[in-house]
Amino acid sequence: MPQLNLVPATFEDYRRLAEKRLPRTLFDYVDGGAYREQTLRENVEDFSRIKIAQRVMRDVSSVSTTTRLLDEDVAMPLALAPVGMAGMMARRGEVQAKRAADALGIPYCLSTVGICSLEEVAEVSDKPFWFQLYMLRDRAVVEEILQRAAAVGVRTLVFTVDLAVVGARYRDVRNGLAGGTNLWGRLRSGLLDYMLHPRWALDVGLSGGPHTFGNLTQYVPKASNPADFREWVGGQFDASVTWKDIEWLRGIWNGKLVIKGVLSAEDAQSAADVGADAVIVSNHGGRQLDDVSSAVAMLPQVADAVGDRVEVLVDGGVRNGLDVAKACALGAHAALIGRPWVYAAAARGEAGVRHLLGTFQEDLRVALGLAGVNAPAELDRQMVS
Ligand code: GLV
Repeated sequence: MPQLNLVPATFEDYRRLAEKRLPRTLFDYVDGGAYREQTLRENVEDFSRIKIAQRVMRDVSSVSTTTRLLDEDVAMPLALAPVGMAGMMARRGEVQAKRAADALGIPYCLSTVGICSLEEVAEVSDKPFWFQLYMLRDRAVVEEILQRAAAVGVRTLVFTVDLAVVGARYRDVRNGLAGGTNLWGRLRSGLLDYMLHPRWALDVGLSGGPHTFGNLTQYVPKASNPADFREWVGGQFDASVTWKDIEWLRGIWNGKLVIKGVLSAEDAQSAADVGADAVIVSNHGGRQLDDVSSAVAMLPQVADAVGDRVEVLVDGGVRNGLDVAKACALGAHAALIGRPWVYAAAARGEAGVRHLLGTFQEDLRVALGLAGVNAPAELDRQMVS
């Protein structure tokens, strides 16, 4: 039986609350992965299987979660990952997430396909945020979006490279979100699904508009809802992209360049060769190819391969502060979370994200202290097994 007065304490609690609050179509869009979702599960399971070596009597009186990430001071080695359509899960969800990230002192990364635009998110505060972009067929649009990002103070570009082709997400098919023709699916994904979730319908559906892809409105003038935008974005994915295009990008982007979506040592080295500042070891949260390695399983080899040439981040399966400690021990400078912050935002808005991030920080502090170290950078591979 679900508890009515649940006080959320963990990722799972927020996930349950989000599942109740959101229309099925939207919850499944976030919650689901590709194909039979094996990689999605393994991202989480592989983290939970890692053991931390407890060490005592080490003087951890100065333990602190703070660290440096891409030349910035951060309160902990964690960032909010870019998530498409977050503003459909919570009212102006991207803005709420940015506020929470600011409050906790960590980076927020806006997605190309966010509901809120670069300009709207920039209104939140003077603190810089990261921006994620895909390679679009129309390179003039890429250049213009980068100029807009720079103009609102973005200094870190997260460039997604694992979307040359799009993995099949069966939940989206069943719900009619992937353009299925099934009438029941379309009804569910539309009005009926919304009516069955009145709190979401009032807060986000009625009061949370406009429901456009804010960064792209000027390029898709005819689009009036997320489905129209998804169609345009689908047609813009460029399957011909190679590292040469990243070299081109490096030439026109002066800020930090983070390559998101490498899952092999060789690809990470290629990213370093073309001048990236960091890579994110990622399988896109299990949303692209299934039956590939979990992100954390590939992390040590990637970290070994690139050494000090680029910073290494990881996402996929990070569910609490202990996972962040494990990621750091295995060679990551930081981890990113996607689903966790979106569920917290869907359930409790900015306050939920702040609370969840607070639990990550506290759990990380405890993990550091009981692993016998005072800072994330002191964690190393001997400390996990
Ligand atoms: C987009 O990047 C998605 O994973 O849905």
